[in-house]
Amino acid sequence: MIPRGATQRPAAGSVKLPVRTPEDIVRTRQFLREQAKAIGFSLVDQTKIVTAASELARNTLEYGGGGEVTIEVLNDGLRKGVRLAFNDRGPGIVDINLALKDGYTTGGGLGLGLSGAKRLSNEFSIESKPGEGTRVTITRWR
Ligand SMILES: Nc1ncnc2c1ncn2[C@@H]1O[C@H](COP(=O)(O)OP(=O)(O)O)[C@@H](O)[C@H]1O
Ligand SMILES: [Mg+2]
Repeated sequence: MIPRGATQRPAAGSVKLPVRTPEDIVRTRQFLREQAKAIGFSLVDQTKIVTAASELARNTLEYGGGGEVTIEVLNDGLRKGVRLAFNDRGPGIVDINLALKDGYTTGGGLGLGLSGAKRLSNEFSIESKPGEGTRVTITRWR
């Protein structure tokens, strides 16, 4: 399937998808699962990366006011993987360490999204500037 916004596939092998509606999150999940499956992720690993992506996409929507995700399939010669970068131009996160704590939420959620996504990934980073926005990048290797 070709999700909305994914009609152009840049030479680098990455795809940028909008994260502006709940339907966009569904499309992101479906596209990611297909990509992960295609590069040989086990069912468990597919579910891990899709779960992490769902949490970050929901944050992009709920706290970031919408944004986009860049999905990149990686092959470093030894292993294959998938990298996702969620970015928004929302209010940003003032205290990133606090936001990463289990149970911390400013929105009445469970406060397990960022920490959960971190646990489900092999690489995790957040860049955020108050007033400018947030970028969360995760990578999972096969
Ligand atoms: N993209 C974002 N922009 C601004 N704040 C964010 C963003 N993502 C997460 N946060 C902040 O980090 C907190 C923790 O996020 P998370 O662990 O996903 O828990 P929850 O979504 O249940 O609140 C959020 O409550 C919010 O304050
Ligand atoms: Mg969340």
